[in-house]
Amino acid sequence: MSRFNVLVYDELTSTNTVLKQRAMCGEAEGTVIIAKKQTEGRGRLGRSFFSPDKTGLYMSVLLRPETDFENSFFITPMAAVSVCRALLKLGAKEPFIKWVNDIFCDGKKVCGILAEAGTDNNGENFVVLGIGINLIRADFPEELKNIAGAAFEKKIFFKTVADAVLLKFWEIYKSDDRKEFIEEYRKRCFIIGQNITLINGKMSRNVQVIDIDSECRLVIRNEKGEIETVLAGEVSVRL
Ligand code: BTN
Repeated sequence: MSRFNVLVYDELTSTNTVLKQRAMCGEAEGTVIIAKKQTEGRGRLGRSFFSPDKTGLYMSVLLRPETDFENSFFITPMAAVSVCRALLKLGAKEPFIKWVNDIFCDGKKVCGILAEAGTDNNGENFVVLGIGINLIRADFPEELKNIAGAAFEKKIFFKTVADAVLLKFWEIYKSDDRKEFIEEYRKRCFIIGQNITLINGKMSRNVQVIDIDSECRLVIRNEKGEIETVLAGEVSVRL
């Protein structure tokens, strides 16, 4: 795929960390770093992302957004829809999205997305889009056993999945029609209608999810019964 310059490494600390360093020095849009294994894989809110050898895809893509539509908020939902489309095309289990950045199959998290924005040494903006997918079942540590799952039943080459995700992502990223992918995001978002705990920093609230709006924001009914639109936060589903 010519628009991407894909570099594969046996082991890195974190593909996001390494690509961010290169972005600071002016690396071009379209550089993609894949590690077969990460020793310091990172998730949102300073969490770690379990990244063992042979079972997952750990990939970061360098973007230099020009328009508002390409801005960093939309990049995460775009990536979520592109991962879903790629997984479906390759015969994975049915994927569902937990707003804003997680993908689930069979009730377990199989993919996390971490988009990190920055400004390089020349004052140019960039976004490093990190995608981690558990392709097949790994030997998950005890604390992840009930939460983490895998997208595929059978072994699949990580590069096949990477190519499919990159292709689907580019179609969405370069399209002027944002309606279509947001509609798909909405349809795949399994928390609509559910009672959740919404965590924002130290504040956590029990709310009900009403919808995802046309800007991919979460529409909730708060504790007072009022409708609110929320742009950021961590969702924990209440059973
Ligand atoms: C999350 O679950 O909160 C997001 C996880 C993102 C993991 C990917 S793996 C490739 C890239 N490198 C990292 O260190 N993190 C992202």
